[in-house]
Amino acid sequence: MIHPSKAIVAICFAGLASLTSAQTTPTAEQSTGFNSTFALTPAQIAAANLSAAEAASLNNVVRFDRSQLANGGPYEDDFYTLPPLSNKTTGSLQPGTLLNTQAFTDLSAFTIPPNTALSRILYTTRTYNGTVVPASAFILWPFTPRHVTAPAGNQRAQSNDDRQRYFTAAKPAGAPVVLWSYGTSGFFGTAAPSCHRALWYGDAAPFALALAGYAVVASDYAGLGISEAWGNSNNTKIQHQYLMSRVSARDGLYALRAARAAFGEKLDERFVAMGHSQGGGVAWGVAEVLQEPEGKAEFGDLAPGYRGTVAGSPTTQVFTGWPSLIAPFVSSGIGSVFPSFKLADWFTPAGAARVALFREIEGGISAALQLFLGDGSAQLLKEGWDETWHVEAYSKLANAGRRPFRGPMLVLQGTEDVYVPYSITNATVAATCAAHPNSELEFLVVNGTGHVPTLDATRQIWLDWIQDRFEEKPAAAGGKGCKRTELSSLLPVGQYLKVGNAFAQWAGTPEYSYQVPLGP
Ligand SMILES: *[C@@H]1O[C@H](CO)[C@@H](O)[C@H](O)[C@H]1NC(C)=O
Ligand SMILES: *[C@@H]1O[C@H](CO)[C@@H](O)[C@H](O)[C@H]1NC(C)=O
Ligand SMILES: *[C@@H]1O[C@H](CO)[C@@H](O)[C@H](O)[C@H]1NC(C)=O
Ligand SMILES: *[C@@H]1O[C@H](CO)[C@@H](O)[C@H](O)[C@H]1NC(C)=O
Ligand SMILES: *[C@@H]1O[C@H](CO)[C@@H](O)[C@H](O)[C@H]1NC(C)=O
Ligand SMILES: *[C@@H]1O[C@H](CO)[C@@H](O)[C@H](O)[C@H]1NC(C)=O
Ligand SMILES: *[C@@H]1O[C@H](CO)[C@@H](O)[C@H](O)[C@H]1NC(C)=O
Repeated sequence: MIHPSKAIVAICFAGLASLTSAQTTPTAEQSTGFNSTFALTPAQIAAANLSAAEAASLNNVVRFDRSQLANGGPYEDDFYTLPPLSNKTTGSLQPGTLLNTQAFTDLSAFTIPPNTALSRILYTTRTYNGTVVPASAFILWPFTPRHVTAPAGNQRAQSNDDRQRYFTAAKPAGAPVVLWSYGTSGFFGTAAPSCHRALWYGDAAPFALALAGYAVVASDYAGLGISEAWGNSNNTKIQHQYLMSRVSARDGLYALRAARAAFGEKLDERFVAMGHSQGGGVAWGVAEVLQEPEGKAEFGDLAPGYRGTVAGSPTTQVFTGWPSLIAPFVSSGIGSVFPSFKLADWFTPAGAARVALFREIEGGISAALQLFLGDGSAQLLKEGWDETWHVEAYSKLANAGRRPFRGPMLVLQGTEDVYVPYSITNATVAATCAAHPNSELEFLVVNGTGHVPTLDATRQIWLDWIQDRFEEKPAAAGGKGCKRTELSSLLPVGQYLKVGNAFAQWAGTPEYSYQVPLGP
């Protein structure tokens, strides 16, 4: 007879043996070439007057960026194929129409957290001047929807016993929604967050929100993901109207309408808008659109569910920051608003040649740094470009802030932000509060934090703030006026990691599974 403890040991080894035989796979070194062999052609290098070193750097950047595209990105992934229009003309098409639903997105090419799930939709939105265009969006789903205790009288209220709340509901209700607006990923088709392995902002917000129990609905913004509209005319390219806060706000709101059409009650009708950087301006724009008479009528179906806005490091003045970057960024779409705009208004021939290459390779931010911030960048912009009519006219249409908005709104801003300077947000908040003293705005200034990391530093605050809005607690500003709070770190701020040093590296095939902590 076998001793009982030996039997247990034997069983354990047997278990381990079957585990290892099932899972041992030859490993492979992680390739630094990632999943792209992109190389600029000699003609491209010559046309943009790139040095050999600049060309080599740009190749690295583009290879990396393309390697972050799940399934090869919008030009290879069938999801982005536009279904034919049943009416053949865009004339009768309404914005907010659901065009296609991918209820279950295959996650093998993504690096999102375990037990989150992804859906994607195609839908219609509209440009500044009212042209209806197709766009794409994603919904990142929580495993367990966040339980928000609705005020008395609401049918959804279930149990007051916090410990019991997840166990008494027979069937999970829909998840409360955060309408997420991301910061700049790029300007062209391939930059869509819905095809980025980590949905571009990853852990900084969308993952954090889904893991906290919210359904995260996010538009790619018009021009990204779907970059061609229907038809064979020369006018089908959809240009991204960069930093047009109320335009991209509509992209988000129409995505939310279409997402509801696709998923019904899985999405609670209540939502909070949240965004960061470009998306912080867009989230602020959502609050403005929902306060405009036109917007109230346009989004009468969504407005009752709106609970407030979190605007992180919001862009509120288009032409601040680095001129040599902002000019090429805005130039990618300004012509669709003002057809009179010519590249030569802002750029020298050398600058225009680099903008042309930027468009050709669909460059993102890192590509822009290589092309527009290098040694020769001073000669790319024309003297006085920032005093041209188009700069002023575009700013007027684009900027968030200084207008009536529907609160409550929480504005987050770090004092060490080099992309969205603290002084600019501080001035916009002050001007907005002075002009609209009865609006509810909370301004949280974080001492010592930079751009995206301000979201990490304040995560608990905005998660609590969002939950309070769903629970209809009074906002700190108390129903009217502005409140300013200054936040400092627990330890001296110099002890904290200032900027992220890593990205979510895809390790989704068996030869890389040894890189995943605690394995597959
Ligand atoms: C190309 O770049 C080099 C080095 O920056 C510069 O000296 C030259 O003038 C540029 N050529 C043109 C045509 O812009
Ligand atoms: C790698 O890139 C190729 C070519 O773009 C693409 O078809 C493939 O799906 C990518 N692999 C993954 C895992 O995304
Ligand atoms: C087609 O046109 C009809 C009538 O104008 C309109 O009600 C319907 O929404 C349109 N369908 C699409 C897909 O645009
Ligand atoms: C597109 O542009 C080209 C060149 O400007 C022109 O010859 C052609 O007729 C245009 N096609 C359409 C469908 O407008
Ligand atoms: C779009 O609207 C702006 C502002 O009203 C106007 O100046 C511009 O000409 C319009 N552009 C187009 C393409 O209609
Ligand atoms: C921030 O705005 C306030 C007015 O609300 C002003 O007194 C202060 O000087 C501003 N600070 C900075 C750094 O711009
Ligand atoms: C911000 O942090 C710096 C460095 O730790 C400190 O000297 C300064 O007093 C802080 N400012 C505020 C307003 O807390």
